[in-house]
Amino acid sequence: MNETLTEQIIRPARNINGSLRLPGDKSISHRYALLGGLAEGTTRLANFSTGADCASSLGCVEALGAEITRSEDGGVEIKGVGGRFAAPDAPLDCGNSGSTMRMLSGLLAPQAHTFTLVGDASLSRRPMERVRKPLMQMGAEIELTEGHAPVTIRGKALKGIDYTTPVPSAQVKTALLFAGMQAEGTTTVHESVRTRDHGELALRAFGANVERTLDSVSIAGGQTLRAIEAVVPGDISSAAFFFCAAALFPGSNLIFDGLGMNPTRATLCDVLTALGAHIGVLNLEDKFGELVGTVQINAPKDGMTGTTISGGLAAQLIDELPVLAAIAPYTANGIRIRDAKELRVKESDRIALVAKNLRAMGAEVEEFEDGLDVPGGQPLRGAVIDAGGDHRIAMAFSVAALRAEGETLIRGAESAAISFPEFFTLLDRVCER
Ligand code: S3P
Repeated sequence: MNETLTEQIIRPARNINGSLRLPGDKSISHRYALLGGLAEGTTRLANFSTGADCASSLGCVEALGAEITRSEDGGVEIKGVGGRFAAPDAPLDCGNSGSTMRMLSGLLAPQAHTFTLVGDASLSRRPMERVRKPLMQMGAEIELTEGHAPVTIRGKALKGIDYTTPVPSAQVKTALLFAGMQAEGTTTVHESVRTRDHGELALRAFGANVERTLDSVSIAGGQTLRAIEAVVPGDISSAAFFFCAAALFPGSNLIFDGLGMNPTRATLCDVLTALGAHIGVLNLEDKFGELVGTVQINAPKDGMTGTTISGGLAAQLIDELPVLAAIAPYTANGIRIRDAKELRVKESDRIALVAKNLRAMGAEVEEFEDGLDVPGGQPLRGAVIDAGGDHRIAMAFSVAALRAEGETLIRGAESAAISFPEFFTLLDRVCER
């Protein structure tokens, strides 16, 4: 298969088998890129994310004075600016990446220049007030246009605050910690749901002191960062598509080496286990606080059962919900998703697009403001899928297509490259046809 095609045909598979090592985690790569850009010294990262989103983070820190060298084998060297970014001569282009725009806003708010952050059409529709509001409480000067990008930041000295995130968001939490580390006093972020903790772990990796309780994280201001050498763990959110593909075929066997298994990211393993799949984890190691291991998945012999995902689980699984919904028709009892309104403000309205594409494949599905009901026991037929420019929709329906009757055409397949350019090639490699 060819990654540059905008349309991709997915033929049904008979089984899924193989062993994979995936490119670096997107969330961790962003944080290492941004902190490496600010740190003192040269950060050397192996297995950096190959996705376009993390390239946006690298491009931004380069425009802010860091020196970036990328090698063919996935290595990245970042010579950091040593605490003070340079004034960029053009707007900082965050591309499609909400993570870049939100976390960089926190990193730049206390820096002594004026910065403008812009993004593509999808990113320019996404909510930015959630990061502006707490940063303004810290004393930042930030302008948006009706709550959206462009984001204009006039750097100011900041003061630490105590903040409870109204919507669980690791991006907002991380932005506040990035600002707090450069502010006067201490910044504490409280969260009702424990979101991914890569920001806290990355700050510690770069030498910052971060305090944690079960539901809060604090950072004192005036801290400096020093460069690291690290291998980025394989991306579990990319693995999620393969986990779900494997779960569809009794007799499947997939093994991942060097996969990130941070507990704040691994909730999908609990859900697939609850649906009947067998997941084994071996050789767990701690790399700068991130757990990395070998993971094996086998499908349930008698097919998947069904489940409800709501409350805190929905927040922790937010990136995996599209693919879970896409395979739900193949379960016995279906999957109900609630408390996932955030899906509507991701790279696309993921609730609407999942419903539309499931219907195109012949499934019945009920859409709610904050979720979906996808009944089980529904065979799907191949169809034309609209990825809507959203990488996770393109990949989710490529997985659903593996057990459909007939071929599926994914329109907008190139969007997979936002997080996972190798997706179609690797999918082809593990599919038995
Ligand atoms: C991310 C946090 C989540 C997630 C996104 C990556 C991160 O977004 O959906 O893909 O790296 O912090 P929110 O912070 O908006 O929940």
